[in-house]
Amino acid sequence: MKNIIFVVGARPNFMKVAPILKEIQNNYSKEFCPMVVHTGQHYDFNMSDIFFEQLKIPINPVCFNIGSGSHAWQTAEIMKEFDTYLNNVSKISLVVVVGDVNSSMATALVAAKKHIPIAHIEAGLRSFDKHMPEEINRIIIDSISDILFTTEPSANMNLMDENRKNVTYYVGNVMIDSLIDKMSEIDSIKKYQEYDLCYKNYILMTLHRPSNVDNENKFKSIISTIDKISCMYPVLFLVHPRTKKKIKEFNISLKNIICEEPMGYIENINLMKNAKLVITDSGGIQEETSFLQIPCVTLRGNTERPVTVIMGTNVIAGTDEKLYEKFIINALERKSFSKIPLWDGQASKRIMNILNLILNKE
Ligand code: UD1
Repeated sequence: MKNIIFVVGARPNFMKVAPILKEIQNNYSKEFCPMVVHTGQHYDFNMSDIFFEQLKIPINPVCFNIGSGSHAWQTAEIMKEFDTYLNNVSKISLVVVVGDVNSSMATALVAAKKHIPIAHIEAGLRSFDKHMPEEINRIIIDSISDILFTTEPSANMNLMDENRKNVTYYVGNVMIDSLIDKMSEIDSIKKYQEYDLCYKNYILMTLHRPSNVDNENKFKSIISTIDKISCMYPVLFLVHPRTKKKIKEFNISLKNIICEEPMGYIENINLMKNAKLVITDSGGIQEETSFLQIPCVTLRGNTERPVTVIMGTNVIAGTDEKLYEKFIINALERKSFSKIPLWDGQASKRIMNILNLILNKE
């Protein structure tokens, strides 16, 4: 029986570990003993607990309750807690980290220094933009991980360029496993009706990147464009806590835009699936909209997920907010998209099959 620690901390982590934990519970309960560590990087009910409830994550996590602070402070606090935790648990065969958040990077660093093997899920993605804190996290995590699981061909290429081909496994997208698993629940509600919106007749928006919301002029200019668009289609804006703080700080009026708190997983995907278009700067939403074949406009200068542009529904609108209206109107007209290979609901099965072969080979 091998002990594996799964690390979660921020909202985009929960839907990535849930299907793997279920796969262990269903098919590898004799081979592996999974443990979950929750750093508490995200702590509001709507950013964390609701995901445990809705995704039915089958293990109670060990919680560090770190909370918010500067990147350095948050990283350091998580490292100290994880170091102490690892000193007090018996033999760990693997630490699994997902994505690119501070929690994943901080815990991977601690595990590496204790010579505990690390698997990184969603490895190899690169925006080649080191202004993004997530890009720094991605590079560090991949460089110290022992097993790299990838979601798309660009990640395989990036890891080959970084001489990591021998530990790279192209398995597909665990986030899509969660989405497929929850599809019947997602389809059982019509969340848009609560806002008097109509099927395929509204735009859903999320924004939280520092590059969009931390600069007052830029943020105001984006909101003014979105307000214009809302005359064509009503816009429902799910406001991330970081964004909420900035709206208050800059005294921004949201005019005709409908604002709401962050949603649970089921409600969020339901709103996405029934929308005409999604506007975002999130990483995961670019993937979920591509899978659901909903047009998506990403308000960023680049993406670390190019398959969503090449094969999916994603359009990168760039950094000049004066052009955003044009991109959004063009995207409303887009029609056909293709399926992305290995985004088929089976990624967790592939991951556990590989981990079983590697960890239980002796
Ligand atoms: C983090 C991730 C980002 C991910 C995003 C999803 C990093 C570097 N960034 O960004 O990749 O796309 O999560 O949400 O790890 N806050 C609350 N309540 C919460 C959580 C946060 O009020 O439950 C506030 C904090 O006070 C803080 C701000 O939101 O001021 C930002 O939180 P933080 O964890 O630093 O990063 P995110 O911007 O959420």
